Amino acid sequence: MFRTTCLTRNFLSILDLDPGELEAVLALAARLKQERGLGWQAPTSRALAGQHVALLFEKPSLRTRCTFEIGIHELGGEYLHVPHEVALRDREKLSDVAQNLELWVSAIVIRTFAQQRLAAFAAAAPRLRVINALTNEQHPCQALGDWLTLVERWGSAKDRTIAFVGDGNNVARSLMEAGALLGATVHLGCPDGYHLPERVLEQARAATSPRAEIRTFIDPAEAVRGADVVYTDTWTSMGFEAEAEERRQTFAPYQVNARLMSLARPEALFMHCLPAHRGEEVTDEVIDSSASAVLDQSENRLHTQKAILLTLMGG
Ligand code: CP
Repeated sequence: MFRTTCLTRNFLSILDLDPGELEAVLALAARLKQERGLGWQAPTSRALAGQHVALLFEKPSLRTRCTFEIGIHELGGEYLHVPHEVALRDREKLSDVAQNLELWVSAIVIRTFAQQRLAAFAAAAPRLRVINALTNEQHPCQALGDWLTLVERWGSAKDRTIAFVGDGNNVARSLMEAGALLGATVHLGCPDGYHLPERVLEQARAATSPRAEIRTFIDPAEAVRGADVVYTDTWTSMGFEAEAEERRQTFAPYQVNARLMSLARPEALFMHCLPAHRGEEVTDEVIDSSASAVLDQSENRLHTQKAILLTLMGG
């Protein structure tokens, strides 16, 4: 039987984990990645046998949805999709939906708008494991895949600098929080007015491991200078489409192109959570270069999500 020592019941935020738990999830993910080739002979292939996981997606998804479906199947569990029209609209109270689902499934993976909705769902159904598959505020599953990608290359995040440039969004927040827990230096280069809220930065600083540091910049060149990684994301996250044209103008100086990459370390990696808007936040030249780790990040979504499912449900 697979056992974990994780204290958290839900995974709504990276800060639901302490540094040791985050390192343990990444180590488990690395093991699952190694063992995947064993197929049904893998020691975890029946770990979720007899358990159901609900998938509730209110926004489009390729990577998160596919990797959860495949991951649950590979762990011997079953999944079902809950239509967001019946679960997250006005048909019935959110707490009633949560309390019904709790009767049938062990866990639920939710992609929605407000983080508060996830917290309300978890509070209403204390026996249910709730996993954040992206909200407007946070994308913790993405950060797990990102940091596995880096830790498997470097061995450790300590004494490394990751620079995020662009919109201080959900991806930036979870990436920063995980970096802080793992002892990295995190640079955030965002236009004035687009930085993460000060209370979010303070909360992450309070959780940092010794040697970790979080620094904010307005100038993208200063943010990436000497960095080991340059990371960017869309300038217009889901839900902010009405601001797209204004954002294209504001963020133009933050495009990750060969000139900006040349300011980072010579062996620096480029990262992006995808989907990418080529020609906007990143050029083809950069995302298709040998420095690009985007497909490793995407692959590692599968292994890290299997690890978080096992951590919450498998013991
Ligand atoms: N990066 C990410 O979450 O991709 P999807 O929106 O396709 O799930």
